[in-house]
Amino acid sequence: MCGIIGYTGPLEASKILLEGLAGLEYRGYDSAGIALCMEDSKICLAKKTGKVKNLKDYCNQQITDSSHCGIGHTRWATHGGVTDTNAHPHQAGKVILIHNGIIENYHALTEEFHLENELISQTDSEVAARVLNRLYEGDPLAAIRKLIELLDGSFSFCIMFEDQPGAIYAIRNVSPLVAASTPSGSLIASDLTALIPYTRNYFVVPEQHIVKLTPYKVHLYQLDDTFTKTYPEMMTVNWNMDAAMKNGFPHFMLKEIHEQPDAMGNTILPRINKGLPDFSEDKIPDSIFETCSQVQIIACGTAMHAGMVARAIMQPVLRIPITVSVASEFRYEEPLIDEKSLVIIISQSGETIDTLAALRLAHQCKSTTLAVVNVKGSTIARESDYVFYTHAGPEIAVASTKAYSVQLAALYMIGCRMALVKGKYTKEQAVSFLGDLLDAIPAMETMIAQKESIGNAASHIIHSPDAFFIGRGLDYAFSLEGALKLKEISYIHSEAYAAGELKHGTIALISDQVPVIAIATQQHVYSKTISNIREVKARGAFIILLAKESAVVDDHLADICIRIPDVDDLFTVFPIAVVLQLIAYYASLKKHLDVDQPRNLAKSVTVE
Ligand code: F6R
Repeated sequence: MCGIIGYTGPLEASKILLEGLAGLEYRGYDSAGIALCMEDSKICLAKKTGKVKNLKDYCNQQITDSSHCGIGHTRWATHGGVTDTNAHPHQAGKVILIHNGIIENYHALTEEFHLENELISQTDSEVAARVLNRLYEGDPLAAIRKLIELLDGSFSFCIMFEDQPGAIYAIRNVSPLVAASTPSGSLIASDLTALIPYTRNYFVVPEQHIVKLTPYKVHLYQLDDTFTKTYPEMMTVNWNMDAAMKNGFPHFMLKEIHEQPDAMGNTILPRINKGLPDFSEDKIPDSIFETCSQVQIIACGTAMHAGMVARAIMQPVLRIPITVSVASEFRYEEPLIDEKSLVIIISQSGETIDTLAALRLAHQCKSTTLAVVNVKGSTIARESDYVFYTHAGPEIAVASTKAYSVQLAALYMIGCRMALVKGKYTKEQAVSFLGDLLDAIPAMETMIAQKESIGNAASHIIHSPDAFFIGRGLDYAFSLEGALKLKEISYIHSEAYAAGELKHGTIALISDQVPVIAIATQQHVYSKTISNIREVKARGAFIILLAKESAVVDDHLADICIRIPDVDDLFTVFPIAVVLQLIAYYASLKKHLDVDQPRNLAKSVTVE
């Protein structure tokens, strides 16, 4: 969603803001803008639809004077179309403001402050800027506090006041912000990628606080009567800038597919002790596994698909109810969870707003929460009772790849530890389970090495408007992710179906040459899946079959057969995930689409 950056210091602000915005491009956006506080204290605004490059070209032509303080924004439209006017920053009198999030009561505020004839954009954000301008009487902290008291919704704001040159103010409710004071000046941004070129030390802006940036200092004030000064909890970035660069790969997605074996090792190996899963470093106590009588998994999108796989792995072993819910649904249900429930929250970004709301609901129900999160210090990580950090490093491509694999690795380890603690696994069984998990890593490498031939298979689906993914049991859970990956970056309408369910309606859509990607890696349902494949084949479908190396496959069954190594049935998701990711990647590439930044999508979904 929207990206935010603010800079004040000795360097040329426009250069830092434009570079920062380029670093935030991966979040997904449709327009970009900057506001600079010029030497004469006048404000210079530049806003353009389209890529940051358009804005950069425009700024190169238009901005000749230098500035040392400014704010920049990439907008993902929520209220109002994609136009230069709707792009941020918004100026209202002395106030210049950028916003990430949604102001839910913007309409009521427009009426209350009689703004109808003043507004020049259709955005909720401009309403916030105009209300703030009305409240501002020379004291930024007091005005911002009054504004916050009036707002409903989620937001992070970065604000400049025309009569406060060199200073930037910021505040957040839910939507994330990180800040740092560095020898090159003070910076604030919606995520770390914009700060990393200048520092490794930063802090997450706490809610209910106002941050003030001056060229060499960052001050933090509580929102109490006297604006008490506090000191932030400093954090250190555990990856370097290289991790956020393409490093010779044509796309971040391909690079991130390649990084999966290492990411798996980084996530699994530090948590193995004498062959057993050990979470003592994570401070996750066994008591949470001992006492729980049910597990509720909550997430969105790909993270939710990881949860579906985990449920299929854990439930037969643990013999307790395990439910997987889509966060945006769960948060408005009356869930059947209580103090005996373990709620596992899965999120790469740790900022997905629906997932965060579900976490808060779980706490209201007095359940214990365990978050599987990739981004250190993110809101979900901070608010959960316990955190299992995955070590994927930054994931820049919008389509999740390595974050999915390590979420699975984390969930497999959690399931294994829980089985051990609950007496469902002996030590020997747990050691063997982890051995199989580690064996999945070379199996992923084997599939990455076959990327060209998998790319050729993708050529067969790019001319079709539809594709189907089918499988049974675990293979069905994998299919869900395969279909999501393909549709989000190739724009081919893809559906995942439990193979046995096709006959109940969907098979009507199968006709000549419709691609069906059939996954058949589960021995106990293998022959059933093969029968379902025959049914679609008989209706003319083009079959791409994903099967194990040793599986016996009739010569005429599949048009293309992609073989994965013979790992144990419970672990086939890891090589299968690589194949599905590569099919989607090459389909997008061959259709000449924007692989890393597909249309309409954002990396971190911070609005409902
Ligand atoms: C798809 C994808 C999304 C995310 C979803 C949740 O490739 O990346 O479906 O998985 O938006 O995001 P996080 O994991 O950040 O909560």
